[in-house]
Amino acid sequence: MAQGRFHDPVLAGEIVAFLVRKPGIYVDGTLGGGGHSLAFLHALREGGYSEQSLLIGIDQDDAALEEAARTLRGFEAHSVLVKGNFQDIEAIITGVCRGKGLNPKVAGILLDLGVSSFQIDTAERGFSYLREGPLDMRMDSDAPLSAGDIVNSYEEKELARLIYRYGEEPRSRSIAKAIVDWRQKNGSVSGTKELADIIRGNAHGGEKVIKTLSRVFQALRIEVNGELDVLRRALYDGIDCLDDYGRMAVISYHSLEDRIVKTVFAEKARSDWGPKGVAMREPLAYGTVALVTRKPLMASSQEIASNLRARSAKLRVIEKIPRRDYHE
Ligand SMILES: C[S@@+](CC[C@H](N)C(=O)[O-])C[C@H]1O[C@@H](n2cnc3c(N)ncnc32)[C@H](O)[C@@H]1O
Repeated sequence: MAQGRFHDPVLAGEIVAFLVRKPGIYVDGTLGGGGHSLAFLHALREGGYSEQSLLIGIDQDDAALEEAARTLRGFEAHSVLVKGNFQDIEAIITGVCRGKGLNPKVAGILLDLGVSSFQIDTAERGFSYLREGPLDMRMDSDAPLSAGDIVNSYEEKELARLIYRYGEEPRSRSIAKAIVDWRQKNGSVSGTKELADIIRGNAHGGEKVIKTLSRVFQALRIEVNGELDVLRRALYDGIDCLDDYGRMAVISYHSLEDRIVKTVFAEKARSDWGPKGVAMREPLAYGTVALVTRKPLMASSQEIASNLRARSAKLRVIEKIPRRDYHE
């Protein structure tokens, strides 16, 4: 079992300041232990907004939902917790709002990506190369694909491709070969420790071993949970759900996630000025969001000193702008 605290929310003060500015519907798409949601609910109460506000918390992990329900005890009248994937954010918001007779336009959305400290620290979930556990890595334990399925059934080329693509690991080919060789000799790779030993045997020495282990485990986790595809979809659909001047905040923890967030936000902020060389006074179509943070915001050194997880966090925030049409 996991030891210690469930999860310390990262950049919580900053996120509340960016998002919670008026009464409305707030969506925490990555509820975890409910740390950010609790901060939202406190801020809404302090602003006198509670009665006209609702927090919708989404997580695909049953353990997270149980912990969040404990954390948010006392706020039941102003919160709804939903088991689901944030890729279905639009359907979830519509469903909850329809049930409560509310207009499904939201004032704020948070996505705090990746896994919680609790998930990493729970050996039986199989997320960590530091703990002996099954090759699982599913955030949603009802999902069909586990890390073991990938490690023990993907062809060498497929394994190498995913380790390179989702782990950005230069030794992807030799690691994939070592995994397949192991399978041929021993039948299967049976757990996180066995996999870690195979990776160690094919990594450069020193600090690079840790990097390689992290990268390969990251790659498997991304593949198991389809993390990059669901993120892309949640960004587009989440932006559609925002009310005018509603805001979306996303915290990413590695460059693949941050690249997607940056690209989608920039694309939605860009106006279409038509073909090059044609002088126009107004764009053909306006961007639908404004970038609130031009550069990602990072945690302070004090926060990093008390919560190591914050060191790789990058926060980006956008604001929905009211629809404007040239030909109105
Ligand atoms: C970094 S933790 C969030 C921690 C949370 N902000 C807190 O303060 O405790 C990420 C959480 O999001 C969940 N999660 C990740 N991807 C998800 C997805 N696509 N749909 C739903 N939940 C997801 C994970 O199960 C995990 O509980």
